[in-house]
Amino acid sequence: MIHPADSSRRLIDSFGRVHNNLRISVTDRCNIRCFYCMPAENVEFMPKEHLLSFEEIERVVRIGTTLGIDRVRLTGGEPLVRRGLHVLVRKLAAMPGIVDIGLTTNGILLEEQARELRDAGLRRLNISLDALDPEIFRKVTRRDGYERVLAGIEAARSVGFSPIKLNAVSVRGLTESQIVPFGQLARDTDTVVRFIEFMPLDADSQWQRDKVLFANEIVATLEEAFGPLRPIDGGNTSVSNAVLPVLGNSAHAPAQDFEFADGKGRIGLIASVSQPFCASCNRFRITADGRLRNCLFSNDETDIKHLLRDQGDDEAIAQAMLDSIAAKKEGHEINTARFIQPDRPMYSIGG
Ligand code: 5AD
Ligand code: SF4
Repeated sequence: MIHPADSSRRLIDSFGRVHNNLRISVTDRCNIRCFYCMPAENVEFMPKEHLLSFEEIERVVRIGTTLGIDRVRLTGGEPLVRRGLHVLVRKLAAMPGIVDIGLTTNGILLEEQARELRDAGLRRLNISLDALDPEIFRKVTRRDGYERVLAGIEAARSVGFSPIKLNAVSVRGLTESQIVPFGQLARDTDTVVRFIEFMPLDADSQWQRDKVLFANEIVATLEEAFGPLRPIDGGNTSVSNAVLPVLGNSAHAPAQDFEFADGKGRIGLIASVSQPFCASCNRFRITADGRLRNCLFSNDETDIKHLLRDQGDDEAIAQAMLDSIAAKKEGHEINTARFIQPDRPMYSIGG
């Protein structure tokens, strides 16, 4: 048994990065088929018995807290297809040492679940929505469901999630027309729109650099429509030329946050490709089938499911976590010839 107060053991890698943020994929299943994440047909999902149970996830998180994990985010696949997710949220929200719990969802099942998630203690919610135009939504997701996502967003708002954060993956040749409408939405409502550069994590390895709609282009389009954006965080702000007043967002947050100079509308830019934020990464991941991943883009992972299931003690699991972080590489190298796309596409890693 590890003593909870053992502060000498922290998830610190060889570059000095301290990891306090655990992203937990609760399933690889999904009810839509975004092209940048999943194959169109014949998706092979993990056998159900490989998925960690809620008890196993709780145990991993509890052990993580002894190593300095204090924030968790539930992801998928689509986390809301995992039955009874609010039960896990409630357990994690009440766990000593956990100060923050978030969820990233595609919103399709949110209308039904927003209330119970809120009641279970969830406060941070990101909803993925790449287009406000239903046709473009369908092209991206290869499914219907736009109306349900909108209903999910409204339900989230009505039970008290605020602000509503939307994640919009930006793809050249597909989503340019959505930038200004999203900007307008951010200006008119309590919605933070976060544009994410398309990353090479798609199942069909179709990613090409020329399909990435870069953050600086998005900024230029927004500024042309609505006037200057100014940064409102302390992180890297080089996608804008504006001078920055530092308003203290976490320096670890991948999003660079901006607001329009007239004070209306908040925008985030996640420039994972054009401006990697690996140097300040504090994220550690566990896949739905119990494998530790120290980076979205890593090509090796550590299976701890067998430790969880074959009477591995807490110490062995803690050591596996420490070892995984100790082996973390400096960065993703998307921008180099050395880059190798991971075998696992996004839905089976967890975003
Ligand atoms: N590139 C960028 N973002 C991605 N996401 C999924 N796949 C990709 C990709 N290839 C985003 C989803 C969701 C979050 C979990 O990650 O849109 O918002
Ligand atoms: Fe599903 Fe999310 Fe992948 Fe889209 S990005 S297919 S919503 S898991």
